[in-house]
Amino acid sequence: MSDAPAEKINKGKFISFEGGEGGGKTTQIKLLAEALSSSGLDILQTREPGGAEGAEAIRALLVEGDVDRWDPATETLLHFAARRDHLTKIILPALKNGQWVLTDRFADSTMAYQGYGHRVSKKAIHSLYQFVAGNKQPDLTLILDLSTEEGLKRAEARGAEKSSEAHQQEDRYERMGMDFHERLREGFLDIARKNRKRCVVVDANRPIEDIHEDIRKIVFVKFGLATDE
Ligand code: TMP
Repeated sequence: MSDAPAEKINKGKFISFEGGEGGGKTTQIKLLAEALSSSGLDILQTREPGGAEGAEAIRALLVEGDVDRWDPATETLLHFAARRDHLTKIILPALKNGQWVLTDRFADSTMAYQGYGHRVSKKAIHSLYQFVAGNKQPDLTLILDLSTEEGLKRAEARGAEKSSEAHQQEDRYERMGMDFHERLREGFLDIARKNRKRCVVVDANRPIEDIHEDIRKIVFVKFGLATDE
């Protein structure tokens, strides 16, 4: 039995950030986490693939190495295996404790990258989602949209910075070619059209502060949080 006050239970919200490469999700999550923390909320920042010990081990298998390292179905299963670990060990317990979970990618990335990008059956992806997550879904999904060219250019510049720090290159997806990235951008926009209650598309081709201001407003209005204005 938990002795937490009843209103604390299930109070946490689940927000996912999605989009192609180089859209600035990581920066925007950090800024939103700061804004929500200032409002007194307990925030957990996490990411996929990864976010839990086992899932991080699977991440390395997915983001490093040859482009054709996995066939698309195997790759899809690996993402869902990592997601199950992340959900059961990190996300669900945090939400139960009343924390707000901000994740850098979730299952829409599998639909966009593996479904629209690699053309894995969308029906199979829906079934795997049900198996792994049941009815649990983010309360809000922010899709940071940017032209494919600009996104890949930014991701490449970020990769060059990291390699100078002798990091293992996590650029397997960035090397998948323009057509693949165009398909997944369209995929994210299609997912947004099909899930209008949950998803909001944010134009990521603007200054960081402007994007943050939009995101802050969307989140504060949706969840009825008090603003200073
Ligand atoms: P990141 O660069 O945003 O950390 O994500 C790592 C890569 O994994 C990114 O290129 C997108 C890809 N990915 C998928 O292909 N399917 C998925 O389900 C997830 C979560 C990520």
